[in-house]
Amino acid sequence: MAQKIQSVKGMNDLLPVEQKDFKLTAAFWQAFEDTVTRWTKSYGYQQIRTPIVEQTGLFVRSIGEETDVVGKEMYTFSDSNDALSLSLRPEGTASCLRAVVEHNLLYNNPQKLWYMGPMFRRERPQKGRYRQFHQVGIEALGFEGPDIDAEIVAMSADLWQKLGIAEHLTLEINSLGNREERAAHRAALVAYLSSHEEKLDEDSKRRLKTNPLRVLDSKNPDLQDICNAAPRLTDYLGEESLAHYQRFKAMLGGLNIAYVENPRLVRGLDYYNHTVFEWTTDKLGAQATVCGGGRYDGLIEELGGKPAASIGFAMGIERLLLLVAEYGSLQADAAPDVYTVHQSEGADLQAMKYAQTLRAAGFNVLQHSGYQSLKAQMKKADNSGARFVLIVAQDELAAQTVTLKDMQGKHPQQTVAAADLIHTLQQWKNA
Ligand code: HAM
Repeated sequence: MAQKIQSVKGMNDLLPVEQKDFKLTAAFWQAFEDTVTRWTKSYGYQQIRTPIVEQTGLFVRSIGEETDVVGKEMYTFSDSNDALSLSLRPEGTASCLRAVVEHNLLYNNPQKLWYMGPMFRRERPQKGRYRQFHQVGIEALGFEGPDIDAEIVAMSADLWQKLGIAEHLTLEINSLGNREERAAHRAALVAYLSSHEEKLDEDSKRRLKTNPLRVLDSKNPDLQDICNAAPRLTDYLGEESLAHYQRFKAMLGGLNIAYVENPRLVRGLDYYNHTVFEWTTDKLGAQATVCGGGRYDGLIEELGGKPAASIGFAMGIERLLLLVAEYGSLQADAAPDVYTVHQSEGADLQAMKYAQTLRAAGFNVLQHSGYQSLKAQMKKADNSGARFVLIVAQDELAAQTVTLKDMQGKHPQQTVAAADLIHTLQQWKNA
């Protein structure tokens, strides 16, 4: 036998059934996507779909060369025909903005957009962390806030309610201020961290040179005291930034959205300023952040567009659904309504015709394929999870009737005239 080829490490198949080390099924995923589509629509957000591959320069310029994502984790290759460097997208914001600028969507209208799809980061795979993972993202472009800041956080909170996981998520917020405020804070932070340099680990020493704010993100327990006592960005915020942050917090309060202020929340991508936030959980081990985002006011300009204040967030679908599968209320809806069973010559065609009639009336019908004993077919019907079974055998064929069985046993098995098929099943379904 030829050797089997395996999927790429850190990249999952989504199957109709649960896998040993990956519980999520395609039907469960689909139920989530349906919920997301309804949810974004209910807030008036419009969908955008962009290619999975972009020019590498897009991510370098927007996410930042010194970030882990761009510096270490991107899948980058050169297009064979020319020297152009391309990368699989590691996130959706940069691509979304590239498309908005390219097609001039902000010409005279701000935009409320959403997207969903696979992203790629070459991280060390573990539960909740994959090399191909999926995000749902929201980007609100051309709005100064702070009202929109509160709107999108409230929107995320609403989705957690819909999925039945609100009680397992905590909202952390912070303000990163504007460029000048961050520069003043950065200078103070570098001076402070340099005075403790001998106590820093290698990673933090490197970050001190490249991206000092990210030292505050360190999970190293030995560094927590140093990080906690470091100069806080919030102390460097000017009047305008503070007012923006205060109003944002006041609006969250007014919407009854609980939050924790985390002065060390800096996010892993370089484009953020002012409001940043993350939704975290203590139910997924190390991969605690289910959703993160914030303001990125200068980014559209940096990508060649006219200046436009903007904010957004993205949630990791795998992480979120692992939580929902265990604690939430979302139900996969994969089973058909009806399974058709047939036996004797000509019954195959007749069953097929009934199936079409039922589908036209709104039923989902799984047709038995092949020619097996009635018993074997009934077993398949049972395994399919169908609520009802429609049987066409010799007698039914001759008398132009069908036999109907309610697999939940709520109605006795019944043989009805073909003309009464839809009516009977509708009655059974609604009873
Ligand atoms: P991010 O924090 O890099 O932000 O990613 C958002 C979410 O994607 C994370 O909170 C996490 O749930 C999920 N995620 C990230 N990496 C992985 C991975 N390797 N495996 C599984 N899940 C992962 C962004 O990507 C920004 N574009 C969010 C944003 C939109 N900010 C403004 N607009």
